[in-house]
Amino acid sequence: MSVRVLIATRSFGSTSPKPWDVLAQAGFETIRADLTQKMTEERLIALLDDVDGAIIGAMPMTARVFEGAPKLKVVSTHGVGFDHVDLEAAARHGVIVANCPGANDQAVADLAIGLMVCLARQVVPANRDLRNGEWKNYQGNELWKKTLGLIGLGRIGRAVARRAGGFDMNVLAYDPFVDARQAEAAGTRPASFDEVISSADYLSLHLVLNDQTRNIIGKKELERMKPSAFLINTARGGLVDEDALYTALEAGKLAGAALDVFSEEPPLEQGLLYLPNVVATPHIGAHSKEAIERVGVLAAQNVVQALQTGEPVFRVV
Ligand SMILES: NC(=O)c1ccc[n+]([C@@H]2O[C@H](COP(=O)([O-])OP(=O)(O)OC[C@H]3O[C@@H](n4cnc5c(N)ncnc54)[C@H](O)[C@@H]3O)[C@@H](O)[C@H]2O)c1
Repeated sequence: MSVRVLIATRSFGSTSPKPWDVLAQAGFETIRADLTQKMTEERLIALLDDVDGAIIGAMPMTARVFEGAPKLKVVSTHGVGFDHVDLEAAARHGVIVANCPGANDQAVADLAIGLMVCLARQVVPANRDLRNGEWKNYQGNELWKKTLGLIGLGRIGRAVARRAGGFDMNVLAYDPFVDARQAEAAGTRPASFDEVISSADYLSLHLVLNDQTRNIIGKKELERMKPSAFLINTARGGLVDEDALYTALEAGKLAGAALDVFSEEPPLEQGLLYLPNVVATPHIGAHSKEAIERVGVLAAQNVVQALQTGEPVFRVV
């Protein structure tokens, strides 16, 4: 009987045949999920019914889904985050969960810096107004010598810090799991959470979403930020209290925000998207052609290695 792998992410192998080749060389059969309609638990359970492995996008892998997938042995996320996977349920059902760290950090770091420039120079409203026939005088800010606050100094945070060096930014970082020497080696000055949020001209989030970090930027934190500061979130929507952010932006307590991620995707609450000082993108941080190829190859290797040897390249549980 052939080994079957479900591909439930739109971007897998979309920029290169290499990810498909990894699965084909192992002799695995692939089944592609129809992702034109929203993925429900029922649909996912039906798709997983007779597969050994799965490569998944951001859809929730709940306890019920693991329960309904008796043959499933490995799930690889098509990215770094695994906050949408019920790890306890996976472990209970003996399913290996793997992810793809280090494959898309450059792409996300590029976007974070790009969004900072967009906010600072009002690129989006300037573009919109020019298309509407308005030739206006926009006055923005420079990144040069400004303070960049990083919350989370993992792979992406460090890649952002490297780029910020090119702008001569003063980079402060808060990450309780990174020691001072490592933070300094990454070109940052380690600082407390309070110092980072209150000193930043640009505050960029690069930490994981979990029970401890959900809404880490809420009303209280937004009030401590400078009114001239910009918030950039390319990590996870659940890190920011979106209602509090809306209120702060509308009241002018924050200069602007750039959001690539939302607590619900696509966002249910559209208000934020229409504020003039918000730049929003549809979770495209990892979507460079190069990163899509690297992540796809790694996700495929995770599944092949797990099914052939019992150990993926990068195991989460
Ligand atoms: N927008 C996108 O398309 C996209 C793509 C890739 C990753 N991401 C997200 O970016 C984030 C970072 O990814 P990464 O590859 O750098 O991960 P990583 O694991 O290398 O780094 C995450 C860092 O967060 C730190 N951290 C954990 N708890 C913290 C806390 N309470 N306060 C401050 N720091 C804390 C960890 O110590 C770690 O250094 C993840 O949430 C991931 O889901 C988004």
